[in-house]
Parts: sequence; structure tokens; C-alpha cells
Amino acid sequence: MEYFTTTSKASRRAADCVIVGVYERNKLSSGAGDIDTASKGEIKKRIKSGDVSNAVGRCTILTNVSGVKADRVAVVGLGAPAKLDATAYKKAVTAAMQAISQTKAKTVYNSLTLESVDSTSPYYLARHTAEAANDVLYRFTQLKSGRKPAGSPLKSVGLAIAKRGDAAASKRGAMHGDGIAAGVALAKDLGNLPANVCTPSYLARTARKLAAGNGKLTTKVLNETEMKRLGMGSLLSVTAGTAEPAKLIVMQYKNAGSEKPVVLVGKGVTFDTGGISLKPGPSMDEMKFDMCGAAGVIGTMAAVAAMKLPINVNVVVPAVENMPGSVATKPGDIVKSMSGQTIEVLNTDAEGRLILCDALTYSRRFKPAAIIDVATLTGACVVALGAHRSAIMSNNDSLRDEIFASGEAAEDRGWPMPLGDEYAAQLKSNFADMANIGGHGGGAVTAGCFLGKFTDGLNWAHLDIAGVAWKSGAKKGASGRPVPMLSQFLLERCGALP
Ligand code: BES
Ligand code: MN
Ligand code: ZN
Repeated sequence: MEYFTTTSKASRRAADCVIVGVYERNKLSSGAGDIDTASKGEIKKRIKSGDVSNAVGRCTILTNVSGVKADRVAVVGLGAPAKLDATAYKKAVTAAMQAISQTKAKTVYNSLTLESVDSTSPYYLARHTAEAANDVLYRFTQLKSGRKPAGSPLKSVGLAIAKRGDAAASKRGAMHGDGIAAGVALAKDLGNLPANVCTPSYLARTARKLAAGNGKLTTKVLNETEMKRLGMGSLLSVTAGTAEPAKLIVMQYKNAGSEKPVVLVGKGVTFDTGGISLKPGPSMDEMKFDMCGAAGVIGTMAAVAAMKLPINVNVVVPAVENMPGSVATKPGDIVKSMSGQTIEVLNTDAEGRLILCDALTYSRRFKPAAIIDVATLTGACVVALGAHRSAIMSNNDSLRDEIFASGEAAEDRGWPMPLGDEYAAQLKSNFADMANIGGHGGGAVTAGCFLGKFTDGLNWAHLDIAGVAWKSGAKKGASGRPVPMLSQFLLERCGALP
């Protein structure tokens, strides 16, 4: 997408569409006020007639508005002025972009970036605009045959600024918004691809392609023989039942000299049947999304590269398929992890932690400043937090708070969950150092505690994204989360925010 900033009035700018807003009690956004004056009361007239709504996210497109240079005026509801926060703003812009994407408009001028949205700066107003536009335009059609529907021709978005001095922040916001959106789109694509296409090898190829031609980014892929040599008995026990080769994907982005890196570890189970502890049939297709942690960290890497952040980031993705079979791991089998600790596999469906623990141990070699693992780890997390927030667990309260704040700022929210010895005790095994399941209650937390046994001395956090990584039902599809949250975390860390 192209972006331009402008100080021209909403009525004076030649564009295929201009976005303006109406608040409760007939209050007009500054762009709407300008257009109302230029058109001799057209907007107020439409409010009175009930043709435009002030409810947040309701959008009406008007054409042939007299005295206005733009061909169309998208009037979007903004609700109560005092309640227009970043969330409502993004909802409104998304609705406007959605309506505009149904038209032939190629250039849009968003005048809503002039509104006072709690304390949101021109940077964020521009960034949220770019993220909303990209989100609306995303389509996953690569596996449909025949002629694909022509998408929206939208290619240029104008951002209103109050003064020339805001131009740099606004442009930077748009650039960052596009970078994050590119990461989100990649994460969505990887999530949406079926497991017969998006295999561990496919994830590895995607990671290699991202690095090709980027001097700051390298990708290395370990095969099963190499993992065996490293002692990754836990990871390898998950791949035992499948013919699909497992991969350990390692990406390194270096753009901050010898600084210690942030390491992102993503669960890459390209399909989770449950293994011998086979899952029930209904909705099992959705277990193609069980690599959304991997997609999230690879997507974040794509965003970091697009934004050219001055930071060092490593991505580690253990990628496997979890299948039953005559040589598959059985309940009760005991495996030895790379850390040396032994694990009794009481349930082969608790496989995410089995691959993550070895990936976390492997990551110690990078001496991470912080390490965050991301996983569709537990159904229990969906019970606890639903589809709205990711669970954040950490052995460091300030890291946890930092991630929480990033989620808020990026509109990609998380919520803290505890860890602790009383939960970890549920993982006791009579035969090995630990079991891979924690029995009844607190399933998201006991999974976190399992990982905690491999992160001693590390500045570590765990994100359970089981509820947020994809939508079920009629809108079934990957969400691209938590790319915005993680991108925000890295933006904050490297001081790239205004
Ligand atoms: N990938 C699943 C978790 C999951 C289930 C995510 C449903 C999203 C929706 C994970 O591998 C799993 O099967 N976890 C088990 C753990 C249990 C056996 C302790 C679960 O949550 O049921
Ligand atoms: Mn499972
Ligand atoms: Zn799983």
C-alpha cells in the first residue's frame, strides 16, 4: 500500500473516497464538519433522515456530495466522543475500509486521523489505519481453482495531519503498520494452509525464502539426525509416528551488533491428531492450526525485517506432525529431553510441550536477553480466557508486564496467568523426572510449569495462544495473532517508537 500525508481539508482533496465520522448527539468529526459546510449541510441532513448511523463501526457511503472533490464520502459512526479510544478508532476505520473495499475506489483519504483519540498519537492513528486496511484486504484464495474474484483495487491511503510537523510520525506509523500487516498476512497464510501442504518442510522452506536476499537474516534447518545428535529425545518422540520429516528451524536477524538477542520459539505442530491418545473427530481439521505459534514467530520475523528494526532477534521453530502409528510413542513411554531430564509421556496429545522443551534448551546457546515461546498449547487456555486474550506466563514479573503492555498498545491483548510450585507439583511422575500432563485442573498453568522446568535462569515468558490463533465457524481462518503483540514488544525494546 502507498501512503501519503496531507494537511488539506476533507472537502478539497481529490480522492476516490474520503473517510469522515459522526459522533453521538450529531457531533461531527473535523472532516465531516468541513464536508457538511462545503455541501451546505448534506451530512447533518443524512443524520436527520437516519441514513447515516453514529454507532461505532457502522458505515454509509455517500456519492455525489456537492461541493466535495472526492467521488465518495464514507461516513462512519464513532460513538461517544469521550469513548473514542484506539479500539473504537480501529473498529471504525476497519468498517470504513470494509465498505470502501466493496467499491472501485483506488485512493482513500482518511480524515479520522485528526480526531483526538484518548492519548493516541499521529503515529498510532496512522499505524492502526494501515493495519485495518491490510486486514480488510487480506484474502486466502491460493487453493481455489478457477477465476479468482478481483480484489479491491485500493492502492493508496491518505492520512490527514493537523500540521506538517506530524508528517514524519504519521508516515512512520503507516510504514510500521504495513510491516506488521505483512507479518500478520504471512502468519495467516501459513495457518490457513492445510497440513498436506504446510508440512514441517514447507515451514522450513518459507523461513529460508524469507532470509534469501536479506543480508541481516539467515535461516538454518536441522534434520532429525542432527536433532538426535543433540539429544532431543523429547521432540523426536512426537514425530515417531509420522512419515513426515521433523525440522528444527533457526532464524537469526542481526541488526544491533553484539547485543544479546530476543529469542522467539514457536510451536510448529503442522497437524495434531493427538497421536495414540487420538483426538475425537469433530473439528479435528482445526488442528492444522496447531502450528500457529510457529506462524506467529515467523510472521513476527517478517515484520521485523520489513520494519528494519535495529535489534537482534532469533526464531526457533520445532516443526513436527503428531500422528499415531505402529512406531508412534505410546502412553507411559519415557523419553529423555535435551536438558537431560526424563519425561513420562502419559498423554501423547500433550505434544506441544514435548517439542518446545527441547527447542527452549537448544535456545540457551544464544544467551537470550529474553526468550518467549508461543504455542497453541492447551484447550484449558481456551476455557480460561476464551477467544479474546492470550495467556501470558513468565518467571519474571517485569517481562510479563512488558508483554502485557505490548498487547494493549497493539490491540492484540493478553492476560497474566500464574506459575508456581503448587501447580508444578501436579506434574509428578512415579517413574521419570516429570509427567507431561498435570492431571485435573489448571491445564494451561501446568503446561506452563512444564516448560518452566526447562527455562531455569532464563528471562522467559510463555504465550498460550490456543484461543486467539484462529476463528472457528463460518469465519474459520487464522488470525495472525500474536504478530502485532510481539512486534510491539520488539518495537518497544529497540526504541523504534516515537
Ligand atoms: N493443540 C492442542 C491444544 C488445543 C486444543 C488448542 C484445542 C486449541 C484448541 C494440544 O496439543 C493438546 O492437545 N492439548 C491437550 C493437553 C492435555 C492432553 C493435557 C488439551 O488441551 O486437551
Ligand atoms: Mn495435542
Ligand atoms: Zn497440539
